[in-house]
Amino acid sequence: MATSRDRLGTLEAEGSSGRQGYSGVEVVLSSDPATPAPLCPHGPTLMFVKVNQGKEETRRFYACSACRDRKDCSFFQWEDEKLSGARLAAREAHNRSCQPPLSRSQCVERYLKFIELPLSQRKFCQSCQQLLLPDDEEKHHEHQVVGDVSITQLKRPSKLLYPLENKKTNAQYLFADRSCLFLVDLLSNLGFRRVLCVGTPRLHELIRLKESGGTKSNIRSLLLDIDFRYSQFYMEDSFCHYNMFNHHFFDGKAALEVCKTFLQEDKGEGVIMVTDPPFGGLVEPLAVTFKKLIAMWKEGHSQDNSQKELPIFWIFPYFFESRICQFFPSFCMLDYQGIQFSVAYLKDASTVIWTLAMQR
Ligand SMILES: C[S@@+](CC[C@H](N)C(=O)[O-])C[C@H]1O[C@@H](n2cnc3c(N)ncnc32)[C@H](O)[C@@H]1O
Ligand SMILES: [Zn+2]
Ligand SMILES: [Zn+2]
Repeated sequence: MATSRDRLGTLEAEGSSGRQGYSGVEVVLSSDPATPAPLCPHGPTLMFVKVNQGKEETRRFYACSACRDRKDCSFFQWEDEKLSGARLAAREAHNRSCQPPLSRSQCVERYLKFIELPLSQRKFCQSCQQLLLPDDEEKHHEHQVVGDVSITQLKRPSKLLYPLENKKTNAQYLFADRSCLFLVDLLSNLGFRRVLCVGTPRLHELIRLKESGGTKSNIRSLLLDIDFRYSQFYMEDSFCHYNMFNHHFFDGKAALEVCKTFLQEDKGEGVIMVTDPPFGGLVEPLAVTFKKLIAMWKEGHSQDNSQKELPIFWIFPYFFESRICQFFPSFCMLDYQGIQFSVAYLKDASTVIWTLAMQR
């Protein structure tokens, strides 16, 4: 089995190699709004092209933006392929069937009921990764259920949920608390008052914990993440189910507005975006997404602030620096190397060097 170190080695080769003689699959960034990409359960797909010894093959295709393993999302369509009405309808039905069983507002409603329950009735099904209300218990009686879920536990969902480790999609490597607290302190010392957490669920919860605890940090946080399980623990204004590879809000316009309001509050002052994408993720679509978030932030500016840039921390392997700088020439690598991940989740975490990049 490949170790995380092997995987990093492969990524290092991909990140630092020149394109000459390269073989693999590359994303094609289309700018033609007249031909919208077909949809998979994870929102608009991306167009890819196979590259053989540095040469692009002629036929391009659409595939999932979020899942790099066809086992996780098998969507495939040639660019020039015409689908019959029946196949399109079947695809739509499939996309619908893959959506979470509960709507965002149903999750909030359940959470509010859950926190009103006495401790002895607050249960969490580990098999289904779900908070249970008394009416649900029957269905889960043969599952692994833990009881007495405390408010403290509810405030640390990343500890209650098991991390989704599949490398090619979620790669949910969580920060060790020590590193995460360092980040929270850093953000607070830099004077930020709002943090847009894109794929950083543990940072989100620690910011909120500090805010509600004795030491008021006065920082608010909004989490955007593809892991729908988090919607059980947060109100609509602190979590959006989101795909960072295509800027897709699964809950539509209402969720997009939450993000917009968060970024534009105080005329965009005091906000930073912190992102830690899965480390096999493609830089190009991430850059396109981040530019859209930057544009959203800029919309809320007054004219005299138009030269300002949205501060961003992008946690990514150091060897992607040149790819990142291709899209964001003003980014620079910071010296915060050796951010530790929870050892239980990434065995050789100490050997992995990560770097924060921040826009100047
Ligand atoms: C490498 S982990 C970062 C976790 C971070 N170190 C923390 O402790 O808060 C990647 C995160 O991105 C999320 N993620 C993976 N694919 C995503 C996608 N397409 N869109 C949004 N979030 C995604 C995962 O669910 C996970 O939370
Ligand atoms: Zn998909
Ligand atoms: Zn269950």
